[in-house]
Amino acid sequence: MSKLSVDLKKIISHSKEYGYIFPSSEIYDGLSACYDYGPFGVELKRNIKDYWWRSMVKSRLDVVGLDSSIFMHPGIWKASGHVDAFNDPLIDNKDSKKRYRADQLIESYIEKLNSKIEKEVKKAHKRFGDKFDKDQFLQTSVRAQDYLNTITKTTKLMNQYLIEEDYGSLKKLIEEIGIVCPVSGTKNWTDIRKFNLMFSTKIGSVADQATDLYLRPETAQGIFVNFLNVQKTARMKVPFGIAQIGKAFRNEIIARQFIFRMREFEQMEMQFFVRPGEEMKWFDYWKKERIKWHKKIGFSENVLKFHDHENLAHYANAATDIEFKYPFGFKELEGIHSRTDFDLRSHEKHTNKKLQYFDSELGESYTPYVIETSIGLDRMFLAVLCQSYTEELVKENTRIVLKIPPILAPIKVAILPLLKKDNLPEKSKDIYNKLNNFFSCYYEEKDSIGKRYRRQDALGTPFCVTVDHETLDNNSVTLRNRDTMDQVRISIDDLIIQLNNKLSF
Ligand code: GAP
Repeated sequence: MSKLSVDLKKIISHSKEYGYIFPSSEIYDGLSACYDYGPFGVELKRNIKDYWWRSMVKSRLDVVGLDSSIFMHPGIWKASGHVDAFNDPLIDNKDSKKRYRADQLIESYIEKLNSKIEKEVKKAHKRFGDKFDKDQFLQTSVRAQDYLNTITKTTKLMNQYLIEEDYGSLKKLIEEIGIVCPVSGTKNWTDIRKFNLMFSTKIGSVADQATDLYLRPETAQGIFVNFLNVQKTARMKVPFGIAQIGKAFRNEIIARQFIFRMREFEQMEMQFFVRPGEEMKWFDYWKKERIKWHKKIGFSENVLKFHDHENLAHYANAATDIEFKYPFGFKELEGIHSRTDFDLRSHEKHTNKKLQYFDSELGESYTPYVIETSIGLDRMFLAVLCQSYTEELVKENTRIVLKIPPILAPIKVAILPLLKKDNLPEKSKDIYNKLNNFFSCYYEEKDSIGKRYRRQDALGTPFCVTVDHETLDNNSVTLRNRDTMDQVRISIDDLIIQLNNKLSF
């Protein structure tokens, strides 16, 4: 059995064919960067949310939950800095009329240079064989050094111009390094403009009296403005956290790569309130906790990495991303930010209301500092799909199997009568009714048993229970394992205990 390599296109079409994800408004030719989750997708999504909620809220004494509204007072977005600073630098190519994010154009250019270095390394490795020393090669190869210097210089300038919002220099940088439009192949660029990513709408029935509102671009602000409500009613003592799962909306200029960058998406965010001066200790703590969470469901070391930020957001004094190796490269899956006391202080200033905490141990009041963990549910969903999607050669046929961690799988057990006669369906339905009280089950009698196994493999169902004539004689069934395809014969009476052992952490 050998695993074949996988690309994003296959995952997209598999998701559609097996009821995980459909393009939004498909019969109207779709709506860019919006997606609908089908019958199996919605279950996987719920299981990811449950896994997060259980480890971030239910299993901890120091974190409580919240569900704040999507519409909030527009002043909140002024105070948070989103009205003034939540912008992307936008540039158009005059020939192709295609629109790009200026920073992403430069990042693609840097990625290309990195691939060129990798090519040089591969060539040299082939030439020198076992004696090859990569570090030594990178230090001595003139060409590799050239690429590395360009990458360092370009990254530094880009970050500087982005922080200073010096878009004239940013455009000059694009021209100097010779970036061409991938569609027209020309360097005929417009000036760079600021583009605010928030969607706006209106509240009220009469247009004149309407108030401008924004669809929230992050769930975090709902937590900040409820800080005292939650702290007082749940009797929380600093350090403590508030967690929330909910929709967020961003008018992304370029929304590509399937559900990686959407205009409507879900976030799972937690703000952890700490004493001023203790934020770095807690930042390190949450980095470790969050990477543990990813590894616990089976993400391996080589698909995860930290990426520390140089270009910090307006509210942060430290930030790192947990990146996942998607088919299109390592990209941000989760952000961990030390947000200082920026948000609480800013809301205090804009409302003239105190958002302070009296620390009885210290005998003083202060505005807490905040460590935030923020993960995109849809990006986590995509990471699970990418990690799970497997093509294997089995006896010269390709078997497609979603090796979803059992705890997250939409269906845990499929109950399959071997034949559609001889009382086997009735017996199978009895077993279905019994098991379905404990696990999410599926019953299917159409098609040959081989075809049904393949379909369950493609859906990611970790176990199939097959009911045959022997079942009627001695009350035993076969239990088939999705990943190994092994089958064992076990008594129906032992099924629940056996499955429970395999389906819990
Ligand atoms: N409250 C902090 C915050 O919103 P962020 O890095 O902008 O920080 C947090 O977003 C997470 O939300 C990201 O790590 C990513 O997983 C997810 N996310 C952001 N924009 C997204 C988009 N357009 N589509 C899907 N997920 C997105």
